This record gives sequence, C-alpha cells and structure tokens, in this order.
Amino acid sequence: MIKIILLLLVIFMNPTFAGNAKLGEAKFNMNCKQCHGPSGMGMASYPKVSGNPIEYTIDRLKRYRAGEEIGPNSALMIMMAKPLSDKDIENLSAYLKEAKK
Ligand code: HEC
Repeated sequence: MIKIILLLLVIFMNPTFAGNAKLGEAKFNMNCKQCHGPSGMGMASYPKVSGNPIEYTIDRLKRYRAGEEIGPNSALMIMMAKPLSDKDIENLSAYLKEAKK
C-alpha cells in the first residue's frame, strides 16, 4: 500500500504533469514583466495577469498564440505568445496563479 502511495506522489509531483512555477517566474521576468509589471500585477493599460486560475491563463495564452483577437490590444499579446511552447505556457500559468508582490 505504501508503495502505491509513494508512486502516486511521484507521479503528481513530477514537473512534466504540472507547470513549474520557478521556471515560469524566470520566463515572466524576462519576457512579460516590462508590460504586466512585477508579479503580473498590471501596469497602466496592461492587464493584471496574476491570481487567475491556471486553466484560465493557459487558455488565454494558447488563444493568443493561435492568433486569436481577444481584447482591443491583442496584437501585442499575439506577438508575445507566438514563441511560447506548451511547457512555457504551463509554467507561466502556474507561476502567475500564485504570483504576489
Ligand atoms: C508589449 C507588452 C506585453 C508583453 C511583453 C506581454 N503582454 Fe500580456 N498582454 C498585453 C496586453 C496589451 C494585453 C491585453 C490584450 C488584449 O487586448 O487582448 C495582454 C493580455 C495578457 C493576458 C490575458 C489577460 C486577461 O485576463 O485577458 C495574459 C494571460 C497575458 N497577457 C500574459 C502575458 C505573458 C505570460 C507574457 C510573457 C510571455 C506577456 N503577457 C507579455 C501586453 C503585453
């Protein structure tokens, strides 16, 4: 029984099954912070992107990556989302859910 529990723990904690917030933070600080502000808290006309459910952020980023217009300034985000991999998106979404100043 204990072996099964350990195995499940290993599976759920494996970073390939969930976004890695640490990697997401590094990526955010490099590519996103200049618009969305420290910890994604939002700046001027750039929306706050922290605190949202992981699924929400993943959905938004994938839609921008696919070239979908969501708001009036989507062109900027489409450009930013194009080079992101699925993994990048998962990591960023995991980071942003918890990101606080
Ligand atoms: C050049 C400025 C800029 C950069 C850099 C940028 N964004 Fe954005 N982002 C925007 C703007 C503007 C919007 C609103 C777009 C619209 O009107 O649809 C937005 C929207 C978003 C949204 C959707 C918010 C919502 O609730 O609808 C998310 C999530 C997001 N950005 C994440 C990121 C991530 C992650 C990065 C780094 C990979 C990033 N952004 C880099 C300007 C930027």
